[in-house]
Amino acid sequence: MFKIASIVGARPNFMKVAPIHRLFKQTDAFEPFLIHTGQHYDEKMSKIFFHELKMPEPDLYLGVGSGTHAKQTAAVMIELEKVFLQETPDWIVVVGDVNSTLAASLVASKLHIPVAHVEAGLRSFDRSMPEEINRIMTDAISDLLFVTEHSGMENLKKEGISDEKIHFVGNVMIDSLVEHLEKAKASNILQELNAQPGEYALMTLHRPSNVDNRTVLRGIFDAIDQIQKKCPVYFPIHPRTKKMLIQFGLEPRIREMNNLHIIDPLGYLSFMRMMSQARLLLTDSGGIQEESTFLGIPCITLRENTERPITVDMGTNQLVGSDPTAILDAFARVWSDKTDEHQVPPLWDGHAAKRIVDVFKAISQGKRTI
Ligand code: UD1
Repeated sequence: MFKIASIVGARPNFMKVAPIHRLFKQTDAFEPFLIHTGQHYDEKMSKIFFHELKMPEPDLYLGVGSGTHAKQTAAVMIELEKVFLQETPDWIVVVGDVNSTLAASLVASKLHIPVAHVEAGLRSFDRSMPEEINRIMTDAISDLLFVTEHSGMENLKKEGISDEKIHFVGNVMIDSLVEHLEKAKASNILQELNAQPGEYALMTLHRPSNVDNRTVLRGIFDAIDQIQKKCPVYFPIHPRTKKMLIQFGLEPRIREMNNLHIIDPLGYLSFMRMMSQARLLLTDSGGIQEESTFLGIPCITLRENTERPITVDMGTNQLVGSDPTAILDAFARVWSDKTDEHQVPPLWDGHAAKRIVDVFKAISQGKRTI
């Protein structure tokens, strides 16, 4: 039996691990177990996703919580080292680019436990982003690298990663989207919020570069003020952003924007429903750039760069940064353009997890070595 530990920590991990962990469970050759580091711990940032994605309760919950990068990463490492020594997994699987991803990879590789990184090779080439550091470091010490888009293959090859470790499998986040889109139709979130299909903008914002600086955050909301005069904006707010709006004294100004609806973070199904029916998206998230590309919903990304260039090349994404004029120009373009042309990137077809598990099957049967 092959013991495989999958690690989740933060919100964007859950929908990536869910389809892989389920397929592992369905295969006799594997003994999968699920570890939640507790990087995200609020009911609405974590638990609801397990429930809606029908994920089993984690086998282990480490409860590390928030902290500086060093404290959070170190706390995950200290706890995981104990777990790995006790459980002795044959492999670990990590996804994405959050601090828990890097922490788990570091601990495993030093214990000589092979690491599989799902969503490998993405590069923004912006090392001021903590996620870019997490991506580069994790890839450098991974033994199997599962890639979502062509740029990922190129980046890994340029970094000297050998071909046999790299597998172009598609996008597990889209697996979850494909699986749950129909179920999401049963959500009555639109009625609850009185949102009209096709007539509202949906916004998310949480990157430190956007929300930890008062001038930048104020500038973004200057643009949002103009946008909400033309179309309702729904904004499920991330805890970090909520904290910073209060800290910077920007709350009173925002409360005056009658058509900006700030709501609690949404669960997976409600968010998918809101996204699929939106006129446009405003975001600084990584995953939403991909989900909007798959759905064909215009996406205005409040970042200067993206580690997911295929969403710009083939999809609906445009990068505008945080300058209010650039945001408003992009909004005007999207608002006046009603064409619905978009392409879905190769292998974003709902079967990425199967491709990943097939690679593990081949390894467990000795048909592949790494
Ligand atoms: C993390 C990831 C980011 C990902 C994002 C998705 C890193 C470096 N960043 O950023 O890549 O896009 O998750 O949400 O791993 N907080 C709560 N409740 C929670 C979680 C966080 O209140 O359940 C607050 C705390 O004040 C915390 C802050 O949010 O200090 C930031 O949380 P943290 O996990 O450090 O990073 P995120 O900004 O969520």
